[in-house]
Amino acid sequence: MALPSTFLDACRRRPVTHTPVWYMRQAGRYQPEYRKIRESYSLVDICKTPELCMQVTKLPVDQLGVDAAILFSDIMIPVGAMGVEFDIQEHVGPVIASPIRTEADVARLHTFVPEESLPYVLETIRLLKANLSVPLIGFAGAPFTLASYLVEGRPSRDYVKTKQLMWSRPDLWFQLMDKLADSTIPYLRAQVAAGAAALQIFDSWVGSLAPEDFRTFVLPTMRRIFSALADLDVPLIYFGKDTAELLADFTETGATVIGVDWKIPLSEACRRVGREFAVQGNLDPVLLFAPWSAIEPRVRAIIDAGLRHSGFVFNLGHGVTHHNPPVDPAILQRLTAFVHEYSMERMGMEVAQHD
Ligand code: CP3
Repeated sequence: MALPSTFLDACRRRPVTHTPVWYMRQAGRYQPEYRKIRESYSLVDICKTPELCMQVTKLPVDQLGVDAAILFSDIMIPVGAMGVEFDIQEHVGPVIASPIRTEADVARLHTFVPEESLPYVLETIRLLKANLSVPLIGFAGAPFTLASYLVEGRPSRDYVKTKQLMWSRPDLWFQLMDKLADSTIPYLRAQVAAGAAALQIFDSWVGSLAPEDFRTFVLPTMRRIFSALADLDVPLIYFGKDTAELLADFTETGATVIGVDWKIPLSEACRRVGREFAVQGNLDPVLLFAPWSAIEPRVRAIIDAGLRHSGFVFNLGHGVTHHNPPVDPAILQRLTAFVHEYSMERMGMEVAQHD
């Protein structure tokens, strides 16, 4: 039997006794233990070593008291299994050996069988399933965000080549999106079969699109992916940055939980998303570098708005920011405890008012 979980309950818009919380990039360079491991292992080495990968995934759960773990991996791992050579460069991000821009490039991408090509990912999930006290979130990059790396060849500011391909060769664009979706669907299904209790699809850079282009060039693929996952009966989270004007369209993807960045008040995001969907967000990750006196009122406001919505998971509006000096893990610990305590107090007040 599955353990009770406030995270899963909130995702399913069921009653909870406190607001659950986890953080995007909760495992990473702000942690001294992670930095130490990275002295001997590359990011990809960690992903390929199940024991170590489990340890890295578990670290923030044990240290911060968060209500969910997220598999330690990268959105580029399955792209490697599609035949793309890449490197994750420190302080840059993913860099592709030969960018994908022509028909021949797209034709060379191949789908893969997760159990055969990425056994270590599934082995890590099985280990985590046996050793975690909270649910594990599996994840993948969304086709648009993956395509942005594949086409540009590296992180980009304005996505000129990606959008050029999209507008000049829609046929080729959809072939690329289809191939990425064809790999993503079995990959995410395999993660659930191995023990993931929820899935998040990261469309980090989709907010670079106008709503019209999102609807034309991205929405059909996202609908196909989410509808192919619906029977798994796990929460399906869709997140992107700079997506305030896309939130209403996100509700048409088939996702059941909508991730929100910090550039829109959570109350307004909830209004745009509507009551049929849980929301997740949305503290500015850079607030973690501010004094607690600046953080606390913002956290209260987010929780107050979240509690008025049905189904709310506290998170940052994007991943923990990498900076020197790094975010102090003690701040994330304090934030986690505060979200739990303050939300419990607020829910207690509401119960008292109704008595
Ligand atoms: O704790 C977690 O959130 C799980 C681990 C995780 C990583 N990458 C590990 C990682 C997750 C969920 C990702 C997804 C990912 N990877 C996304 C989507 C989420 C987002 O942040 O928008 C994207 C866009 C990538 C691509 C990528 N990989 C980037 C932009 C970078 C940062 C490059 C840098 O050096 O600043 C990476 C590398 C990466 N992936 C790190 C981590 C912890 C950096 C630390 C390292 O190199 O060890």
